Amino acid sequence: MSNALQLMFVAGARPNFMKIAPLVSAAERNGGFTSFIVHTGQHYSAEMSDLFFKELKIPAPDVNLGVGSDSHAKQTAAIMTGFEKVVEKHRPDAVIVVGDVNSTIACTLVAVKLGICVAHVEAGLRSFDRTMPEEINRLLTDAISDHLFVTEKSGVENLKHEGVNEEKIHFTGNVMIDTLLMFRDKAGGSKILEELGIDKGDDYAPITLHRPSNVDSPEPLARILDAFERLEGSLRLLWPIHPRTDAALDRFGLKKRLSAIKGLQITQPLGYVDFLKLQSEAAVIITDSGGIQEEANILKVPCVTLRDNTERPSTVECGGNVLVGNDPEAVLENIKSMARMDKSEIQSPPLWDGKAAERIMEILGKVIRR
Ligand code: UD1
Repeated sequence: MSNALQLMFVAGARPNFMKIAPLVSAAERNGGFTSFIVHTGQHYSAEMSDLFFKELKIPAPDVNLGVGSDSHAKQTAAIMTGFEKVVEKHRPDAVIVVGDVNSTIACTLVAVKLGICVAHVEAGLRSFDRTMPEEINRLLTDAISDHLFVTEKSGVENLKHEGVNEEKIHFTGNVMIDTLLMFRDKAGGSKILEELGIDKGDDYAPITLHRPSNVDSPEPLARILDAFERLEGSLRLLWPIHPRTDAALDRFGLKKRLSAIKGLQITQPLGYVDFLKLQSEAAVIITDSGGIQEEANILKVPCVTLRDNTERPSTVECGGNVLVGNDPEAVLENIKSMARMDKSEIQSPPLWDGKAAERIMEILGKVIRR
């Protein structure tokens, strides 16, 4: 029998895929592990899932639980029921969960109760906003995981403050940035700007919005559209629309208003490489995503975050990211001023250097007990 430790990686939703990619690859290079990938099926559309496995060269999942979309309780319960069978059958030495989606907490809860060691990658981040489903997922996952791998210093502080034993906390850097640095050259060759009709030197801003607080009711969404209207075409806006947001715009009858906004172009959700290219050359990025605030930092592109808080405060402290909520005036003014900022002023957090996954595997090799 091989001495390799069996790691079971969990991925469910789009932002998980770029996090497990470098981990699976580092596990393989390390030589001390075998990998087993469970896709929960939380995201299932070709452009939200399959495309990322293909582009990021993640091995095909060993199991897909195929849970799909549903209410939080039903989705979480379906993931738990499916994942329990997989863990009981394969009894891995450790389960590796990433990020803060429903798949993260569901699989952590199952594994911990079956006595399996759980490592949470991207632990310790806190928005201190318990109306966000992700904040609940983060708090609960960190409270019961055995090993907590942290991307930025605030995460270490938060965990210590919550009374977590320091031996469990490992400050190892950011695996999402490992992937970005790995694919940066490839993104250079993407033809997405030509496809969208953007000429070299054109100023434009990619938009991504999908947080329930911005898109699940008509008022905030209308306020955001108001800000985009008031730009009056002075900046091109390129918006790959998330399925949640697309459905909301339809539901609230805002599609007509959207299509009348000057300089705004809507696209399907883009793949990783094309979106990385779109971010790299942008004048400013407009988002409510967590991961994109981090990617913008490393790309040294100013970021306007349409939220009142962030669980990634280092992106703000390093310059280059501002939290503006969804008041139209604040959104408008910050888009204009951030687009003009001197990008060379943007600093980067420590250990966002492309080697986080390697560090994590080295530590896992020492701490996992059979
Ligand atoms: C989920 C995560 C969120 C993450 C986001 C990234 C939770 C609680 N939320 O939110 O943290 O930032 O993913 O995208 O885990 N849909 C499709 N195709 C898909 C997936 C979803 O069309 O592949 C549609 C469905 O209509 C669904 C809606 O999008 O009802 C929302 O999807 P859901 O998975 O509920 O949440 P996200 O908003 O994607």
